[in-house]
Amino acid sequence: MCGIIAYNGQDDAIPYLLEGIRNLEYRGYDSFGCAIDSKVGIIIKKDIGKVDDVINKYKIQDFSSSKAIFHTRWATHGGIKAENAHPMVDCTHRIAVAHNGIIENWAELKESLGAHRFVSDTDTEVLSHLIEEKLNDGADIQSAVKDAFNKIKGSSSFIVLDKQSDDLIAVKKGSPLVLGIAKNGNFLSSDVPSFVRHTNKVVYLSDSDMVVLGKKNYTITNLMNRDVNHDVSTVNFSYQQAEKGDYEHFMIKEIMEQPGLMKNLESADLKNVVRAAELVKHAKQVYLMGAGTSYHAAMLGAKVLRENGINAVAVQGQDLITYRKVISAEDVFILISQSGETADIINVLPLIYKNQKIGVINSEGSTLAKDVDVLIPIGAGLEKAVASTKSFTLSGVYLTFIGMFAAGRGEEAIRDLKLMNINMYNLLVPSVLSAIDKVAEKIKGLENVFFLGRDANYITALEGALKLKEVSYIHAEAIDAATFKHGPLALISDKVYAAAVVSEVTRNDMLYNLQEVKARGGNIIGISDKNENVFDMFIRTQNGGAFTFVMHAIILQLLAYKTAMLKGLDIDHPRNLAKTVTVL
Ligand code: F6R
Repeated sequence: MCGIIAYNGQDDAIPYLLEGIRNLEYRGYDSFGCAIDSKVGIIIKKDIGKVDDVINKYKIQDFSSSKAIFHTRWATHGGIKAENAHPMVDCTHRIAVAHNGIIENWAELKESLGAHRFVSDTDTEVLSHLIEEKLNDGADIQSAVKDAFNKIKGSSSFIVLDKQSDDLIAVKKGSPLVLGIAKNGNFLSSDVPSFVRHTNKVVYLSDSDMVVLGKKNYTITNLMNRDVNHDVSTVNFSYQQAEKGDYEHFMIKEIMEQPGLMKNLESADLKNVVRAAELVKHAKQVYLMGAGTSYHAAMLGAKVLRENGINAVAVQGQDLITYRKVISAEDVFILISQSGETADIINVLPLIYKNQKIGVINSEGSTLAKDVDVLIPIGAGLEKAVASTKSFTLSGVYLTFIGMFAAGRGEEAIRDLKLMNINMYNLLVPSVLSAIDKVAEKIKGLENVFFLGRDANYITALEGALKLKEVSYIHAEAIDAATFKHGPLALISDKVYAAAVVSEVTRNDMLYNLQEVKARGGNIIGISDKNENVFDMFIRTQNGGAFTFVMHAIILQLLAYKTAMLKGLDIDHPRNLAKTVTVL
């Protein structure tokens, strides 16, 4: 993972990059480092810890330079140590390299660079010495970077600062990298929001692009030395989206954006939903692929498609390998991803390069978005909290649309959406918020919480459990209530709490299952549109027709958030995690 941002121009780079790297911290937060061009050479400052801690330690705000690279790390190769923080320098301190990705053949390359002095355990350091090796042979910096890039295997984007050059050099392959064109200079970054306050003009780079970023101009060539002409896109989100505003955390800001986003869907352009519905209708088999939360959305979508007469299955990205002998040319794939950069999915794309692909994706310029035949941008806007919230509900709604439109139930889908939006007014009312507070207070000290549901509610339960685990570090397990009696019931005692997601379709069966839990002393937290005798605690949700899962998901997201708040945790940056998972 990791986040990189660089600036080269006529303005002072440091304020831009300080702001930018804070906006990239969601990509990793084990350590921070920077390379700053100066008259006396390249200044490197780096250490373990959160971005702001390291910035304050070295008073980075006091530096000034027109050319610099900042990096925030999520450790993949080499432990969380100051010497493993990026950027990496060569033996002579002529160049500095910041990298996002994995160099798979680092060990053999390192061996071939035996004469060089390595100071870290990272794969990245191989790059700085490979470039140095070529420079020592008399190559110019561009050829040296190109040569290094041709030697490495795996997904990597990296930016190089050379003290002897006015330019920054960057290469993209696999890992994200975008170019931002501002009035007095240019940016290179892992994502657009990190510089969107200064420009909304961006170039989405393709794999194998090499950028030479001057103070005024830039050139892009590919690794075969051919010029590359990419369109300059204008992005349509504002920098306010990259800020918390009046909220304490991005997670709560993003949870609370959902009612507005659901309302916007009423006037959304559904042209690509209709195209996607046509494709799935004629598919032999539809595979819906995602990872983590996006896999839960895939499960939800597959269920809706099956209910609408379409043969569909949800697959966790990397698991597609096990289907390789049964995939046929008439199969259609739906790729679901917030970032559009998840390695588990990108890695299996070669298996389906001939198939029709639909993308239900938030990041429009991403690798996956570029690879699909029909793109449905979910329009969640920037999602910065590591725990995904609004992307889950929006993907779920679009997937439900595809299934219902394919079965000629488009009008019913829009009617249900409107019904949900009306009932949404009663969802986040004070009595409900205080009921969530009470439950959060109750579970904050527990080591385990069960989440139960049947049918679609089981999928929402899976997502609720994932949210609680991620941000509150409480072990949470979702179980299909219908299967509880086949083993997990043995775990029930009067110390156990189970959050039960209940709605109309499965109510009777679900209440029956809950009685079984109750009879063994279990405590039941009902998440339902009706209070029931079997509940010990109760949070009221609302009916949303085909979109009732949105109501449940919002309640469960709030429960996870409030529990983590009571525990005083770093909600937007849960330990060990990063938002965009570009490693396998
Ligand atoms: C959970 C979460 C992760 C992501 C997963 C896939 O809150 O954020 O489980 O859902 O890493 O990411 P995307 O959707 O970007 O492909």
